[in-house]
Amino acid sequence: MTTKFLGATLALLAVFPAFAADVQGDPLAPTSRWSAYSSGRAQTSPMGWSSWNAFATDIDEDKILGSAQALVDSGLARKGYRYVNIDDGWWLQRRASDGELVIRAERFPSTVRAGGLPSFRPFTDRLHAMGLKAGIYSDLGRNTCSQAYSPDDSDLPKGSVEEREVGLYGHIDQDISLFFSAWGFDFIKIDGCGLRAYAAGSEKVMSGAYRELKPLLDMDSVARSDIPGVQSLFRQIDAALIRNNPDGDFVLSLCIWGAGNVRAWGKDFGNISRTSDDINPTWGRLLTNFDSAAKRALYAHPGSWNDPDMLFIGKGDFDADHLTEARSHLSMWAMINAPLMIGMDLRNATPALLEVFGNEEVIALNQDPAGHQAVVAFDSGEVQIFVKTLSTGEKAVALFNRSAAPMAVDLTAAHLKFRDDLDVGLVDVWNGRKQSFRKQVRLHLEAHQTLVFKARGARVLAEGLYLSEQPGNVNPAVDGVRWPAPDPTIHRSAFGWQGTRGSGERPIYAGWGGAQPDSAPFGEALRIGGKKFETGIGVLANSRLEVRNQGYRQFTAIVGVNDSARDERHAVTFTVYGDGKVLATSRALKWGEEGQRISVDVSGVKIVELVARAPIDDPASLPVTWAEAALLSGSAPAQVSQH
Ligand code: GLA
Repeated sequence: MTTKFLGATLALLAVFPAFAADVQGDPLAPTSRWSAYSSGRAQTSPMGWSSWNAFATDIDEDKILGSAQALVDSGLARKGYRYVNIDDGWWLQRRASDGELVIRAERFPSTVRAGGLPSFRPFTDRLHAMGLKAGIYSDLGRNTCSQAYSPDDSDLPKGSVEEREVGLYGHIDQDISLFFSAWGFDFIKIDGCGLRAYAAGSEKVMSGAYRELKPLLDMDSVARSDIPGVQSLFRQIDAALIRNNPDGDFVLSLCIWGAGNVRAWGKDFGNISRTSDDINPTWGRLLTNFDSAAKRALYAHPGSWNDPDMLFIGKGDFDADHLTEARSHLSMWAMINAPLMIGMDLRNATPALLEVFGNEEVIALNQDPAGHQAVVAFDSGEVQIFVKTLSTGEKAVALFNRSAAPMAVDLTAAHLKFRDDLDVGLVDVWNGRKQSFRKQVRLHLEAHQTLVFKARGARVLAEGLYLSEQPGNVNPAVDGVRWPAPDPTIHRSAFGWQGTRGSGERPIYAGWGGAQPDSAPFGEALRIGGKKFETGIGVLANSRLEVRNQGYRQFTAIVGVNDSARDERHAVTFTVYGDGKVLATSRALKWGEEGQRISVDVSGVKIVELVARAPIDDPASLPVTWAEAALLSGSAPAQVSQH
């Protein structure tokens, strides 16, 4: 990008924060490209182990290698848990003379070298020899999360103010080259506390122990976050990763906890992206973290996954005495294609816990190559039903009892988008039990229990797939959210360590109004001109969706303004592009008007783009619907007709 365009680009990024690629002109212009992040190696979500939930900063080589050995000995590594990630706590300091990072060698004896700074190379060699991959941790700012939040400084970097600045800020190329080229790591988690906790008036900076870094991230206020500033740092990191990994074998994990509207754009900047603040081993917090990712199915794709944080199985509400909750945790993380990162000291895992982690049927759902995050099929405060399309054409369905009371739940063929005049076969992935039903079946859930089935039936849409059945192929490149607002639907838990002091957790995770499968953007039903649709994509006006076409020949949808729109005045025009060329354009459609059917031939087209345009400033007032949007295998003459 030339500097000439930089000013305009930043302005556009500020206006369309979800939009990250090719912003040199009209962000709704078709690009004929898939713009979600595709560098690195995360075709399926990464699986492994991380030191943080088990040990916080009190880490050492024995603890980490002990869990690594347990991954191998228990067979979990063979089942996919391959990444062994060092989290916060490994630094001693940054050497003043040349800025080289120094490891806490007393904790990692294998790093000691005669005549040089300690090196993690023997450590990563050891993990690689065990068939594992190695992960490291850093921060976007000068300082880290533990430096901001640890109760004491015994595990924190030592030395002068500058020597304790161990984060990436100002050292991106140097550190990434050290981690990947010199030390041989395969994975990096990048936290953002350095961009959040070191404001001029903060206690840390006032103490004189840390330098000020004007915060680019404000957890409480997306409007006070400098989104282009944060994105620019991630871009530099991405470029350094590509330079230092000629084979492309790396994973970039973004950890800014849903701040700065990252739930909308993380997919364009890294392989996994945290959607919420830290998980803790309580049921309430599990719900919060799950919710932060659960309705973001269109924002996750092969190569770019939602990350509701690591597993806390093995502790608290998910320990060996709470296997129902432990199974629910793994089940729901698997259904939404979350990274499966074990967070317990595996040297102490009971056989029952190892069995939970090692359930191959559940792992297979998470690692399904089609990469479709589960979509909500039923939603209430107590029970949710999530359905995930698998690469085999089967579905996985999870019935999730969020409540502390047993529940009876009716699962219908319609939830699965299966025909209700034919049998539906279910296999319980936790115990292998089979059953079948027609139309509907009543199932019983214990408190906090999740039932997960692989389901086989006749799809309602026999000759194709609705877009809402294939969210992994739909990328809201521009979702129309112009002024990001916090999502009020995320369960708000009480932080254990804070009790009920203060006013409690406010809605803080922006992304409200983003694109949704089978729902309008603010959670309302899909309805055009009084007619309700059970399936489709709901999105705001002034949006552009990229759809990967995997060999289908026809695209169809019924388009119109959703009945939930507040704007009755302005008209929306819907255009379908195939590899950049206009295939069909609708009439200008206003609120209350009947939907218009669009049906176009997409044979040979790789990227279909769905653009809804309206001459308005605030797309939030104008949700639109691509009802029954589907890719079909039959071809049809291009037509745009009244529905
Ligand atoms: C942040 C992250 C956690 C962990 C800690 C380490 O809080 O969100 O996952 O990495 O920092 O200090």
